[in-house]
Amino acid sequence: MTDKHHIKDISLAQEGVRRINWAARDMPVLKQIRQRFEKEQPLKNTTIAACLHITTETANLGITLKAGGANVILCASNPLSTQDDVAAALVAEYGISTFAIKGEDRDTYYSHIISALETKPNMTMDDGADLVATLHGERKDLMENMIGGTEETTTGVIRLKSLADQGKLEYPVIAVNDADTKHFFDNRYGTGQSTLDGITRATNLLWAGKNVVVIGYGWCGRGVAMRARGMGAQTIVCEVDHIRALEAAMDGHQVMKIDDAAKEGDVFISVTGGMKAIDKKHVAVMKDGAILANSGHFNVEIDIEGIESESKDQQQIREFVDQYTMPDERRINILGEGRLINLAAAEGHPSAVMDMSFADQALSAEYVVKQHHNLEKKVYKVPDNIDKEVGKLKLMSMGIEIDVLTEEQETYLNSWNVGT
Ligand SMILES: NC(=O)c1ccc[n+]([C@@H]2O[C@H](COP(=O)([O-])OP(=O)(O)OC[C@H]3O[C@@H](n4cnc5c(N)ncnc54)[C@H](O)[C@@H]3O)[C@@H](O)[C@H]2O)c1
Repeated sequence: MTDKHHIKDISLAQEGVRRINWAARDMPVLKQIRQRFEKEQPLKNTTIAACLHITTETANLGITLKAGGANVILCASNPLSTQDDVAAALVAEYGISTFAIKGEDRDTYYSHIISALETKPNMTMDDGADLVATLHGERKDLMENMIGGTEETTTGVIRLKSLADQGKLEYPVIAVNDADTKHFFDNRYGTGQSTLDGITRATNLLWAGKNVVVIGYGWCGRGVAMRARGMGAQTIVCEVDHIRALEAAMDGHQVMKIDDAAKEGDVFISVTGGMKAIDKKHVAVMKDGAILANSGHFNVEIDIEGIESESKDQQQIREFVDQYTMPDERRINILGEGRLINLAAAEGHPSAVMDMSFADQALSAEYVVKQHHNLEKKVYKVPDNIDKEVGKLKLMSMGIEIDVLTEEQETYLNSWNVGT
């Protein structure tokens, strides 16, 4: 048991342990890393502050980092995604300091980030760059021990690159999101499945026959649209990038402007990483009963304030469902206060996909410890050998073997004058 914590209820620990172990069954790559870390202790004398969704998968990452010798402090990267039993188990059973309570208000959320940083970490592990933003903003005084960091998601990487472009980034950060073994799988298959899961749990809706509008056709949007179609929905994609819009059209989705899609949709899902992807002018033409959900990182993709100001009444009609009644009596349902719906109303990504993302995290942390002397204050890609290793281990764990090029094939592929 660690004494540094702020969680909801320590008596939930045993349920948390059971669920953490259940997730571990589907995380064989992380398990192999943990076994090596136990022997080699690559993170010895390193304090890692990690601002991640406090879920069973994150618990397994925390346990792995600790097995590698690190002192680990966790805080939530989203006020709604914390699993309180997991937080209790981390504190009571695994000795990992945790600051996270599901439903915490804004002030508590930031006080938890500060508590994690006040341990004076050597490394940050972010999901959305809140630790980095706080260290580079109001708490520069806590920066002195930093050797590097890692970042989990698209939005965080964008924030970090903008900091680095302005010459203000104070330490090297590895963009875990940009690893192939992360965004191809986590963003696409993880967000695809878990977003629909979150919306289903919040509403119990039947997807078959619905018009589902997906706004943003990046890695997450591709997954969401693909899975919605798989459930029998008619899919409409809205994009601002010509090539991605073209890809959506050729993948078989209808592509149109949000102004037009707003009139057609039964369910709207934003995954842009930007702001006001759905605003009050779109809501003004939506059908009665429309459902709005966000699965992009921050809760600014749906203009909730604007919608609220136009509505004449607002009430929570079901857990995770706020219904806004417009002056013409149309009812608009916003899920999970516009926050990541897969984490607010469901359990986030399945463990099997987080296995790869968190294997990238653990190996990137080891890389930072070993290589920080050679790194500049920049955003770095995950080294190719880490990416390839994670992909290889995952395939092996699935019992899949693949072919190897013969010497003759290799020579052919690597020469310019053979075979013409
Ligand atoms: N829910 C989750 O668990 C989860 C998991 C991974 C990533 N994310 C978050 O989801 C968001 C998207 O991630 P991604 O990897 O797909 O990013 P991405 O950059 O690959 O895709 C975003 C797409 O949205 C488009 N876009 C931006 N603004 C738009 C607008 N107003 N209207 C229409 N299209 C617009 C962009 O052109 C781009 O194609 C990010 O905020 C990321 O951090 C969430």
